[in-house]
Amino acid sequence: MLSATYHFPTGFLWGTATSSHQVEGSNSNNNWSAWEAQEGRIRLGHKAGLACDWWGGRWKEDFDRAAESGQNAHRLSLEWSRIQPRPDVWDEDAIDHYRQMLRGLRQRGMTPLVTLHHFTDPLWLMELGGWENDNTPTLFEKFTLKVVDALKEYCQNWVTINEPNVYTVMGYLFKAFPPAKNDLKACFAVLKNMVRGHAAAYRAIHRLQPDASVGIALNYQSFKPNHAWLPFDRALADFTHNNFNVSFPNTLMTGKFKFAFKSIDLPEARNTQDFLGINYYTRQMAAFNLLKKEDLFIHLTFPKDAEMSDTGHIANVPDGFFEAMKFAKGYSLPIYITENGIEDADDDLRPRYLIQHVHQMWRAVNFNWPIKGYFHWSLVDNFEWERGWTQRFGLWGLDVDTQVRIRRTSVDVYEAICRENGVASAMVQQYAPSIYSQLFPE
Ligand code: BGC
Repeated sequence: MLSATYHFPTGFLWGTATSSHQVEGSNSNNNWSAWEAQEGRIRLGHKAGLACDWWGGRWKEDFDRAAESGQNAHRLSLEWSRIQPRPDVWDEDAIDHYRQMLRGLRQRGMTPLVTLHHFTDPLWLMELGGWENDNTPTLFEKFTLKVVDALKEYCQNWVTINEPNVYTVMGYLFKAFPPAKNDLKACFAVLKNMVRGHAAAYRAIHRLQPDASVGIALNYQSFKPNHAWLPFDRALADFTHNNFNVSFPNTLMTGKFKFAFKSIDLPEARNTQDFLGINYYTRQMAAFNLLKKEDLFIHLTFPKDAEMSDTGHIANVPDGFFEAMKFAKGYSLPIYITENGIEDADDDLRPRYLIQHVHQMWRAVNFNWPIKGYFHWSLVDNFEWERGWTQRFGLWGLDVDTQVRIRRTSVDVYEAICRENGVASAMVQQYAPSIYSQLFPE
């Protein structure tokens, strides 16, 4: 049998990604904690509760796990509602908590990538209309100035906003996230203000830290027509791609914001990215459906013969990941894979999914596309938004009642990849023999 390795460049970042509300626990001042208290909002009535108890200090043991298993980076987010619990109050203890965490990463040899906004908003901000309010970008800029000034000693890489596209469609079109609206005008306003908020934060960070690297984390989905021969399906797949994938990063390049059927100039957004972060999970097929008026007549399904995750949330389509990176390199910026992963409680599919996706990334790197790092979602099982605890994305499992961590085989797989800085044939033979001949054809 041949022995070969797909290597990555020296200095490549290998980490995992998390977000504040999903891991910290005991959040009670943001829109998600309020949402979880309402009946029928979260699957099985689940609540974030203690989550992974990072606010109680368990980040230390989880960072140990990450470092001891070969990871050299971690992406986490700051909880705005803790740092600014009321419009006129800054909580220095909360800021210090994050300072300790970032110092903790550095002490363990891990490079931090910090997200300033990952889905949650302070309650007081939502009372002011959240991101529909044209003043929110200014408030976000103030928050950014405060935290970046306090934490810049420990971090140089910043994601301003995580998945503005998901935040907007889930909250203002598909009614799955708070505030559960179905309103295209509101979508436009929210996205526009997220562009403005990003642009203001981008400049604020560079004022405080000229050599900072600032970008967004975009959720890229590979959209294909359900029936390639149907013009309607083709047009809808293009429409979905343009609005979901293209609109936001293009605005940050050109200063022209186009969404749905409207466009406006936002010149302050021009050239406000130092890198592009890509979160890739899956592919979806778009079909025209007259019954789906609320969803703009778009019916999305997964590719028919794809291997599916536990609860049918993700189809394993590694070439969609390659497509995502090809799209990203069109911006001529460094690229980080800021999220990629799968829900898989029994860890049957994850080892294969992980290896297949890292292999696609190797292909991209070998075309000299500027991919600088990969952050697997996630380190430990955490609270999955409207899906609660029904989905398990962690390399480590979590027993939510006891806080016990369960080491999955995927920890070993990812550790092998991180330590090798690549994918070796022996790993594939050991952890995913069914794809061996696909990855290493003789
Ligand atoms: C989000 C994460 C989430 C993950 C898996 C991404 O869209 O950024 O917060 O946990 O998907 O559901």
